[in-house]
Amino acid sequence: MLTFTRVLLCAVLLAMAGLVQAADPITIKFAHVVADNTPKGQGALLFKKLAEERLAGKVRVEVYPNSSLFGDGKEMEALLLGDVQMLAPSLAKFEQYNKKIQIYDLPFLFDNLEAVDHFQAGKGKELLLAMQDKNILGLAYWHNGLKQLSANKKMVEPKDARGLKFRVQASSVLEEQFKALRANPRKMSFAEVYQGLQTGVVNGTENTWSNYESQKVNEVQPFFTESNHGLIDYMVITNASFWKGLTPEVRDELEKIVAEVTLEVNRQAEALNQSARQKIIDSRTSQVVTLTREQREKWRETMKPVWKTFESEIGTDLINAAQASNQQAQ
Ligand code: LMR
Repeated sequence: MLTFTRVLLCAVLLAMAGLVQAADPITIKFAHVVADNTPKGQGALLFKKLAEERLAGKVRVEVYPNSSLFGDGKEMEALLLGDVQMLAPSLAKFEQYNKKIQIYDLPFLFDNLEAVDHFQAGKGKELLLAMQDKNILGLAYWHNGLKQLSANKKMVEPKDARGLKFRVQASSVLEEQFKALRANPRKMSFAEVYQGLQTGVVNGTENTWSNYESQKVNEVQPFFTESNHGLIDYMVITNASFWKGLTPEVRDELEKIVAEVTLEVNRQAEALNQSARQKIIDSRTSQVVTLTREQREKWRETMKPVWKTFESEIGTDLINAAQASNQQAQ
């Protein structure tokens, strides 16, 4: 009897092994809200390329750019429900999941992307794991770049922004930033920005050159002010249960690919933004206002009080570490 049972058990295990071997590839849906010709858009496509090459037959990646599968306000819920497996939202969109990530929205905090690199490799790294209690796992940070202002009027000094309606991401810090300018912030999804500016629902906004150019925002914004007043960066995230459910072989390889893609995205980001800036200038649709050191200092002085408002939520330790990263980047 024992022999028969063992034979039967072996047969069942072999059959299961066969099934697993012949199992369909795992499908990873990677959704985001920007165009392909942006740092994040290129990163998602490179992730797909490498994952399907190195895990051929085991993993399929479907990339959904431009809010084509899920947009702002829907993408995080979709991740938690398992309707999408990877996202890379702007760091301004995590407020309801962890207040400390608001640090990345503080105006004039980071001098440049090198400083951001230092912070993300140091104290900022802990924030990747800060949402696991909500089943959200941070895999990496990807750069976009520093933000510029845009409006339907020329803005050289903070007073020029008074009374204007500015589109902001879903971020309390960014709302307060524009209130500090005595302007009127309006939370709006990224997909609605062009039409919002075209119809006058909002008069201005803030974003990186690559997001402005790839969404043709310069067609509906006659003025840009090169303020470099804040940051748009991303956290590449996955559903923690999904990621832990992968086989160690697949998970390890995907993590190596994420690390490789991160280096490439961060290497390319600045060049992509400078190229987008030049395209906007060459298009002659808009005037790009550059600021003198003194003029830029006035914007910093007007916006910086926002730090105090959020210091208790973010933590002095993180703010000090971020400021120290500017010294490291010099
Ligand atoms: C925005 O909403 O302006 C940005 O988060 C878009 C993006 O993901 O770069």
